[in-house]
Amino acid sequence: MPMMASQMERSAGNYSAGPSRLPDAVRAMVAEDVLDLDGSGIGCLEHSHRGEVFDQVLSQTESLTRNVLNVPSDYSVLFLQGGATQQFGLIPMNFSETGLSAHTNTGVWTTKAMRAAEQFGPISIVFDGADDRFRSLPDPTNLQIPKEASYFHTCANNTVMGTQWKNLPSPPANVPHVCDMSSEIGSRVLDWNNLDMLYAGCQKNLGVAGTVLVIIKNDLLHRSKAPTPFNYQEHASAGSRLNTPPTFGIVVLRRMLEWIQEHGGVKNMALRAEKRAQLLYDAIESTQGYWQPHASHACRSVMNVTWHGPNPEAEFQFLHQANELGFSGLKGHRSVGGLRASVYNAADEVACQKLAELIQTSSRSCK
Ligand SMILES: Cc1ncc(COP(=O)(O)O)c(C=O)c1O
Repeated sequence: MPMMASQMERSAGNYSAGPSRLPDAVRAMVAEDVLDLDGSGIGCLEHSHRGEVFDQVLSQTESLTRNVLNVPSDYSVLFLQGGATQQFGLIPMNFSETGLSAHTNTGVWTTKAMRAAEQFGPISIVFDGADDRFRSLPDPTNLQIPKEASYFHTCANNTVMGTQWKNLPSPPANVPHVCDMSSEIGSRVLDWNNLDMLYAGCQKNLGVAGTVLVIIKNDLLHRSKAPTPFNYQEHASAGSRLNTPPTFGIVVLRRMLEWIQEHGGVKNMALRAEKRAQLLYDAIESTQGYWQPHASHACRSVMNVTWHGPNPEAEFQFLHQANELGFSGLKGHRSVGGLRASVYNAADEVACQKLAELIQTSSRSCK
Protein backbone atom coordinates (compact mmCIF):
# COMPACT_ATOMS: atom_id res chain seq x y z
CA MET A 1 0.00 0.00 0.00
CA PRO A 2 1.64 3.34 -0.99
CA MET A 3 2.22 5.98 1.71
CA MET A 4 -0.18 8.95 1.71
CA ALA A 5 1.54 12.14 0.61
CA SER A 6 2.34 15.10 2.85
CA GLN A 7 0.68 18.50 2.35
CA MET A 8 3.84 19.76 0.54
CA GLU A 9 3.79 16.76 -1.79
CA ARG A 10 0.08 17.23 -2.48
CA SER A 11 0.73 20.82 -3.50
CA ALA A 12 3.64 19.83 -5.76
CA GLY A 13 1.59 16.97 -7.22
CA ASN A 14 -1.27 19.26 -8.28
CA TYR A 15 -1.61 18.94 -12.08
CA SER A 16 -4.84 20.90 -12.41
CA ALA A 17 -5.45 22.56 -15.79
CA GLY A 18 -6.39 25.83 -14.14
CA PRO A 19 -6.72 27.35 -11.67
CA SER A 20 -3.44 25.60 -11.03
CA ARG A 21 -0.39 25.40 -8.84
CA LEU A 22 1.49 28.53 -7.76
CA PRO A 23 5.20 28.48 -6.81
CA ASP A 24 5.70 28.10 -3.03
CA ALA A 25 7.55 31.44 -2.86
CA VAL A 26 4.63 33.20 -4.59
CA ARG A 27 2.09 31.59 -2.25
CA ALA A 28 4.10 32.87 0.72
CA MET A 29 4.41 36.42 -0.67
CA VAL A 30 0.72 36.57 -1.51
CA ALA A 31 -0.19 35.35 1.99
CA GLU A 32 1.75 38.36 3.31
CA ASP A 33 0.12 40.70 0.77
CA VAL A 34 -3.31 39.58 1.98
CA LEU A 35 -2.43 40.72 5.50
CA ASP A 36 -0.28 43.74 4.72
CA LEU A 37 0.29 45.09 1.21
CA ASP A 38 3.75 46.61 0.76
CA GLY A 39 4.06 47.70 4.39
CA SER A 40 0.88 49.77 4.26
CA GLY A 41 -0.66 47.95 7.24
CA ILE A 42 -3.72 47.16 5.10
CA GLY A 43 -4.22 43.90 3.24
CA CYS A 44 -4.49 43.80 -0.56
CA LEU A 45 -8.13 42.68 -0.41
CA GLU A 46 -9.01 45.85 1.47
CA HIS A 47 -7.19 48.56 -0.51
CA SER A 48 -8.99 51.02 -2.79
CA HIS A 49 -8.13 50.48 -6.44
CA ARG A 50 -7.65 54.26 -6.71
CA GLY A 51 -5.40 54.69 -3.67
CA GLU A 52 -1.66 55.41 -3.79
CA VAL A 53 -0.64 51.94 -2.67
CA PHE A 54 -2.57 50.27 -5.47
CA ASP A 55 -1.31 52.93 -7.96
CA GLN A 56 2.16 51.55 -7.26
CA VAL A 57 1.08 47.92 -7.63
CA LEU A 58 -0.56 48.65 -10.97
CA SER A 59 2.37 50.54 -12.42
CA GLN A 60 4.87 47.92 -11.17
CA THR A 61 2.76 45.13 -12.66
CA GLU A 62 2.61 46.90 -15.99
CA SER A 63 6.40 47.46 -16.12
CA LEU A 64 7.04 43.87 -15.06
CA THR A 65 4.68 42.64 -17.79
CA ARG A 66 6.52 44.76 -20.34
CA ASN A 67 9.95 43.54 -19.17
CA VAL A 68 9.16 39.87 -18.74
CA LEU A 69 7.21 39.53 -21.99
CA ASN A 70 9.41 42.02 -23.89
CA VAL A 71 6.35 44.02 -24.96
CA PRO A 72 7.12 46.64 -27.66
CA SER A 73 6.37 50.28 -26.74
CA ASP A 74 3.57 50.62 -29.32
CA TYR A 75 1.43 48.04 -27.50
CA SER A 76 -0.89 48.74 -24.55
CA VAL A 77 -1.20 46.45 -21.55
CA LEU A 78 -4.64 45.95 -19.96
CA PHE A 79 -5.72 44.07 -16.85
CA LEU A 80 -9.40 43.19 -17.19
CA GLN A 81 -12.07 41.02 -15.62
CA GLY A 82 -14.40 38.54 -17.31
CA GLY A 83 -12.07 35.66 -18.15
CA ALA A 84 -10.70 34.72 -21.54
CA THR A 85 -14.24 33.70 -22.49
CA GLN A 86 -15.40 37.31 -22.36
CA GLN A 87 -12.71 38.19 -24.90
CA PHE A 88 -14.31 35.76 -27.36
CA GLY A 89 -17.21 38.23 -27.54
CA LEU A 90 -15.30 41.51 -27.06
CA ILE A 91 -12.94 40.85 -29.97
CA PRO A 92 -15.62 40.73 -32.72
CA MET A 93 -17.62 43.42 -30.92
CA ASN A 94 -14.63 45.77 -31.24
CA PHE A 95 -12.91 44.68 -34.42
CA SER A 96 -15.27 43.02 -36.87
CA GLU A 97 -15.05 45.94 -39.31
CA THR A 98 -15.66 44.06 -42.55
CA GLY A 99 -18.02 41.62 -40.82
CA LEU A 100 -15.80 38.67 -41.75
CA SER A 101 -13.35 37.07 -39.30
CA ALA A 102 -10.94 34.17 -39.96
CA HIS A 103 -10.39 31.29 -37.51
CA THR A 104 -8.36 28.17 -36.90
CA ASN A 105 -10.50 25.63 -35.09
CA THR A 106 -8.06 23.69 -32.92
CA GLY A 107 -10.20 22.71 -29.94
CA VAL A 108 -12.89 23.49 -27.42
CA TRP A 109 -11.84 27.10 -26.82
CA THR A 110 -11.45 28.14 -30.46
CA THR A 111 -14.87 26.63 -31.15
CA LYS A 112 -16.31 28.89 -28.46
CA ALA A 113 -14.48 31.89 -29.93
CA MET A 114 -15.96 31.06 -33.35
CA ARG A 115 -19.49 30.72 -31.94
CA ALA A 116 -19.14 34.18 -30.36
CA ALA A 117 -17.72 35.72 -33.56
CA GLU A 118 -20.59 34.31 -35.64
CA GLN A 119 -22.96 36.60 -33.79
CA PHE A 120 -21.23 39.59 -35.41
CA GLY A 121 -20.81 38.37 -38.98
CA PRO A 122 -19.68 35.49 -41.16
CA ILE A 123 -16.58 33.51 -40.21
CA SER A 124 -14.02 31.80 -42.42
CA ILE A 125 -12.62 28.58 -40.90
CA VAL A 126 -9.18 28.21 -42.44
CA PHE A 127 -8.43 25.00 -40.54
CA ASP A 128 -10.82 22.67 -38.72
CA GLY A 129 -9.37 19.87 -36.61
CA ALA A 130 -12.73 18.53 -35.40
CA ASP A 131 -12.74 15.44 -37.65
CA ASP A 132 -9.38 14.38 -36.25
CA ARG A 133 -10.59 14.92 -32.64
CA PHE A 134 -8.22 17.92 -32.61
CA ARG A 135 -5.13 15.67 -32.40
CA SER A 136 -3.03 17.66 -34.84
CA LEU A 137 -2.34 21.13 -36.18
CA PRO A 138 -1.66 22.02 -39.82
CA ASP A 139 1.45 23.43 -41.47
CA PRO A 140 1.17 27.11 -40.44
CA THR A 141 2.51 28.28 -43.81
CA ASN A 142 -0.21 26.48 -45.72
CA LEU A 143 -3.39 28.28 -44.66
CA GLN A 144 -5.58 30.34 -46.99
CA ILE A 145 -6.45 33.33 -44.79
CA PRO A 146 -8.77 35.78 -46.56
CA LYS A 147 -7.28 39.24 -47.09
CA GLU A 148 -10.60 40.92 -46.36
CA ALA A 149 -10.91 39.41 -42.85
CA SER A 150 -11.22 41.95 -40.02
CA TYR A 151 -8.95 39.76 -37.89
CA PHE A 152 -7.46 36.26 -37.72
CA HIS A 153 -7.90 34.25 -34.51
CA THR A 154 -5.70 31.44 -33.17
CA CYS A 155 -5.13 29.68 -29.86
CA ALA A 156 -1.42 29.13 -29.17
CA ASN A 157 -1.85 26.17 -26.81
CA ASN A 158 -4.94 24.01 -26.74
CA THR A 159 -5.37 23.25 -23.04
CA VAL A 160 -7.96 20.51 -23.46
CA MET A 161 -6.41 18.60 -26.37
CA GLY A 162 -2.75 19.08 -25.43
CA THR A 163 -1.64 20.50 -28.76
CA GLN A 164 0.53 23.58 -29.25
CA TRP A 165 1.57 25.54 -32.32
CA LYS A 166 5.37 25.33 -32.53
CA ASN A 167 5.17 28.28 -34.94
CA LEU A 168 2.02 30.32 -35.14
CA PRO A 169 0.54 31.00 -38.60
CA SER A 170 0.79 34.60 -39.84
CA PRO A 171 -2.10 36.32 -41.58
CA PRO A 172 -1.69 38.51 -44.69
CA ALA A 173 -0.52 42.11 -44.10
CA ASN A 174 -3.34 44.31 -42.75
CA VAL A 175 -5.20 41.39 -41.18
CA PRO A 176 -4.56 41.66 -37.41
CA HIS A 177 -3.55 38.43 -35.65
CA VAL A 178 -5.39 37.93 -32.33
CA CYS A 179 -4.17 35.03 -30.20
CA ASP A 180 -5.58 33.29 -27.14
CA MET A 181 -2.51 32.57 -24.98
CA SER A 182 -4.38 31.58 -21.83
CA SER A 183 -2.40 28.39 -21.28
CA GLU A 184 1.06 29.34 -22.49
CA ILE A 185 1.61 33.02 -21.65
CA GLY A 186 4.88 33.52 -19.78
CA SER A 187 6.28 30.14 -20.81
CA ARG A 188 7.50 30.91 -24.33
CA VAL A 189 9.39 33.79 -25.94
CA LEU A 190 6.91 35.78 -28.06
CA ASP A 191 7.35 36.90 -31.66
CA TRP A 192 5.69 40.32 -31.58
CA ASN A 193 6.09 40.70 -35.36
CA ASN A 194 3.30 38.17 -35.67
CA LEU A 195 0.96 39.38 -32.91
CA ASP A 196 -1.43 42.33 -32.92
CA MET A 197 -3.30 41.28 -29.81
CA LEU A 198 -2.96 38.54 -27.24
CA TYR A 199 -5.15 37.74 -24.29
CA ALA A 200 -4.76 35.28 -21.45
CA GLY A 201 -6.66 34.34 -18.34
CA CYS A 202 -4.01 34.42 -15.60
CA GLN A 203 -5.08 31.30 -13.68
CA LYS A 204 -2.60 28.94 -15.34
CA ASN A 205 0.86 30.41 -15.90
CA LEU A 206 0.49 33.83 -14.31
CA GLY A 207 -1.50 33.61 -11.12
CA VAL A 208 -5.14 33.30 -10.23
CA ALA A 209 -8.60 33.38 -11.80
CA GLY A 210 -10.37 36.70 -12.27
CA THR A 211 -7.71 38.61 -14.19
CA VAL A 212 -7.24 38.65 -17.94
CA LEU A 213 -4.10 40.11 -19.41
CA VAL A 214 -4.70 41.80 -22.77
CA ILE A 215 -1.80 43.18 -24.80
CA ILE A 216 -2.80 45.03 -27.90
CA LYS A 217 -1.04 46.99 -30.63
CA ASN A 218 -2.09 50.63 -30.51
CA ASP A 219 -3.00 50.70 -34.24
CA LEU A 220 -5.58 48.03 -33.55
CA LEU A 221 -6.61 49.42 -30.18
CA HIS A 222 -7.58 52.76 -31.78
CA ARG A 223 -10.08 50.87 -33.98
CA SER A 224 -12.10 49.63 -30.96
CA LYS A 225 -15.75 50.32 -31.67
CA ALA A 226 -17.73 48.52 -28.93
CA PRO A 227 -19.83 50.57 -26.51
CA THR A 228 -18.80 51.20 -22.90
CA PRO A 229 -17.82 49.06 -20.95
CA PHE A 230 -16.75 46.66 -23.71
CA ASN A 231 -14.47 49.06 -25.57
CA TYR A 232 -10.73 48.24 -25.32
CA GLN A 233 -9.66 51.83 -26.06
CA GLU A 234 -11.74 53.13 -23.16
CA HIS A 235 -10.12 50.59 -20.82
CA ALA A 236 -6.67 51.63 -22.07
CA SER A 237 -7.42 55.36 -21.72
CA ALA A 238 -8.56 54.74 -18.15
CA GLY A 239 -5.37 52.77 -17.33
CA SER A 240 -7.37 49.56 -16.69
CA ARG A 241 -9.52 51.46 -14.17
CA LEU A 242 -12.64 52.16 -16.20
CA ASN A 243 -14.29 50.25 -13.38
CA THR A 244 -12.83 48.35 -10.43
CA PRO A 245 -10.08 46.13 -11.80
CA PRO A 246 -9.41 42.64 -10.39
CA THR A 247 -7.09 43.94 -7.67
CA PHE A 248 -6.25 40.63 -6.01
CA GLY A 249 -5.40 38.98 -9.33
CA ILE A 250 -3.14 41.92 -10.20
CA VAL A 251 -1.31 41.58 -6.87
CA VAL A 252 -0.72 37.87 -7.57
CA LEU A 253 0.30 38.61 -11.16
CA ARG A 254 2.95 41.04 -9.87
CA ARG A 255 4.39 38.32 -7.62
CA MET A 256 4.33 35.74 -10.43
CA LEU A 257 6.12 38.10 -12.82
CA GLU A 258 8.76 38.87 -10.17
CA TRP A 259 9.23 35.14 -9.66
CA ILE A 260 9.62 34.52 -13.42
CA GLN A 261 12.16 37.34 -13.63
CA GLU A 262 14.14 35.92 -10.67
CA HIS A 263 14.11 32.46 -12.28
CA GLY A 264 15.72 33.34 -15.59
CA GLY A 265 12.75 34.91 -17.35
CA VAL A 266 10.56 33.45 -20.05
CA LYS A 267 13.55 31.87 -21.82
CA ASN A 268 14.22 29.71 -18.79
CA MET A 269 10.51 29.00 -18.26
CA ALA A 270 10.49 27.59 -21.82
CA LEU A 271 13.50 25.34 -21.13
CA ARG A 272 11.98 24.07 -17.88
CA ALA A 273 8.67 23.39 -19.61
CA GLU A 274 10.38 21.37 -22.38
CA LYS A 275 12.24 19.28 -19.83
CA ARG A 276 9.19 18.49 -17.68
CA ALA A 277 7.00 17.61 -20.64
CA GLN A 278 9.73 15.42 -22.14
CA LEU A 279 9.88 13.39 -18.90
CA LEU A 280 6.17 12.64 -19.21
CA TYR A 281 6.11 11.96 -22.96
CA ASP A 282 9.15 9.65 -22.63
CA ALA A 283 7.41 7.74 -19.84
CA ILE A 284 4.22 7.38 -21.95
CA GLU A 285 6.25 6.23 -24.98
CA SER A 286 8.17 3.71 -22.87
CA THR A 287 4.97 1.76 -22.11
CA GLN A 288 4.97 0.57 -25.74
CA GLY A 289 1.45 1.52 -26.57
CA TYR A 290 -0.22 0.76 -23.23
CA TRP A 291 -0.53 4.51 -22.62
CA GLN A 292 -0.90 6.57 -25.81
CA PRO A 293 -0.51 10.33 -26.24
CA HIS A 294 -3.62 12.07 -27.56
CA ALA A 295 -1.74 14.69 -29.58
CA SER A 296 0.27 13.98 -32.74
CA HIS A 297 4.01 14.02 -32.13
CA ALA A 298 4.79 17.24 -34.04
CA CYS A 299 2.39 19.41 -32.08
CA ARG A 300 2.53 17.98 -28.57
CA SER A 301 2.05 20.63 -25.93
CA VAL A 302 4.68 21.26 -23.28
CA MET A 303 1.96 22.74 -21.05
CA ASN A 304 -0.78 20.07 -21.13
CA VAL A 305 0.25 16.46 -21.62
CA THR A 306 -2.78 14.37 -22.64
CA TRP A 307 -2.93 10.60 -23.00
CA HIS A 308 -5.28 7.63 -23.07
CA GLY A 309 -5.19 4.13 -21.64
CA PRO A 310 -6.38 0.85 -23.16
CA ASN A 311 -9.81 1.19 -21.48
CA PRO A 312 -11.65 3.43 -18.97
CA GLU A 313 -11.00 0.94 -16.12
CA ALA A 314 -7.23 1.25 -16.56
CA GLU A 315 -7.54 5.06 -16.52
CA PHE A 316 -9.71 4.90 -13.39
CA GLN A 317 -7.19 2.63 -11.67
CA PHE A 318 -4.38 5.01 -12.62
CA LEU A 319 -6.25 7.97 -11.12
CA HIS A 320 -6.82 6.01 -7.93
CA GLN A 321 -3.13 5.09 -7.59
CA ALA A 322 -2.14 8.67 -8.42
CA ASN A 323 -4.46 10.04 -5.75
CA GLU A 324 -2.98 7.73 -3.12
CA LEU A 325 0.48 9.01 -3.96
CA GLY A 326 -0.61 12.64 -3.62
CA PHE A 327 -1.19 13.54 -7.28
CA SER A 328 -4.35 15.38 -8.29
CA GLY A 329 -5.96 17.09 -11.29
CA LEU A 330 -5.01 14.30 -13.71
CA LYS A 331 -8.44 13.44 -15.10
CA GLY A 332 -8.77 14.43 -18.77
CA HIS A 333 -11.30 17.05 -19.86
CA ARG A 334 -14.79 15.60 -20.31
CA SER A 335 -14.71 16.27 -24.07
CA VAL A 336 -11.54 14.19 -24.63
CA GLY A 337 -11.52 11.74 -21.71
CA GLY A 338 -8.31 9.96 -20.72
CA LEU A 339 -5.69 11.67 -18.61
CA ARG A 340 -4.04 15.08 -18.59
CA ALA A 341 -1.10 16.53 -16.67
CA SER A 342 -0.95 20.32 -16.82
CA VAL A 343 2.60 21.44 -16.25
CA TYR A 344 2.59 25.23 -16.18
CA ASN A 345 5.35 27.54 -14.94
CA ALA A 346 5.00 26.48 -11.30
CA ALA A 347 5.09 22.73 -12.03
CA ASP A 348 7.65 20.89 -9.95
CA GLU A 349 10.28 18.84 -11.79
CA VAL A 350 10.72 16.30 -8.97
CA ALA A 351 6.96 15.72 -8.88
CA CYS A 352 7.06 15.26 -12.68
CA GLN A 353 9.76 12.61 -12.30
CA LYS A 354 7.56 10.80 -9.78
CA LEU A 355 4.56 11.04 -12.08
CA ALA A 356 6.70 9.70 -14.95
CA GLU A 357 7.62 6.71 -12.75
CA LEU A 358 3.96 6.10 -11.97
CA ILE A 359 3.10 6.18 -15.68
CA GLN A 360 5.74 3.54 -16.31
CA THR A 361 4.93 1.24 -13.37
CA SER A 362 1.17 1.55 -13.84
CA SER A 363 1.43 0.14 -17.36
CA ARG A 364 2.40 -3.10 -15.64
CA SER A 365 -0.08 -2.95 -12.73
CA CYS A 366 -3.26 -1.33 -14.27
CA LYS A 367 -4.37 -4.30 -16.36
C1 LIG B 1 -6.96 28.33 -24.08
C2 LIG B 1 -8.10 28.76 -23.21
N1 LIG B 1 -8.88 29.78 -23.63
C3 LIG B 1 -9.91 30.22 -22.89
C4 LIG B 1 -10.22 29.64 -21.68
C5 LIG B 1 -11.39 30.16 -20.89
O1 LIG B 1 -10.92 30.87 -19.81
P1 LIG B 1 -11.93 31.48 -18.71
O2 LIG B 1 -12.54 30.32 -18.00
O3 LIG B 1 -11.00 32.29 -17.86
O4 LIG B 1 -12.92 32.31 -19.41
C6 LIG B 1 -9.42 28.59 -21.19
C7 LIG B 1 -9.73 27.97 -19.89
O5 LIG B 1 -9.22 26.96 -19.50
C8 LIG B 1 -8.35 28.14 -21.99
O6 LIG B 1 -7.57 27.14 -21.58
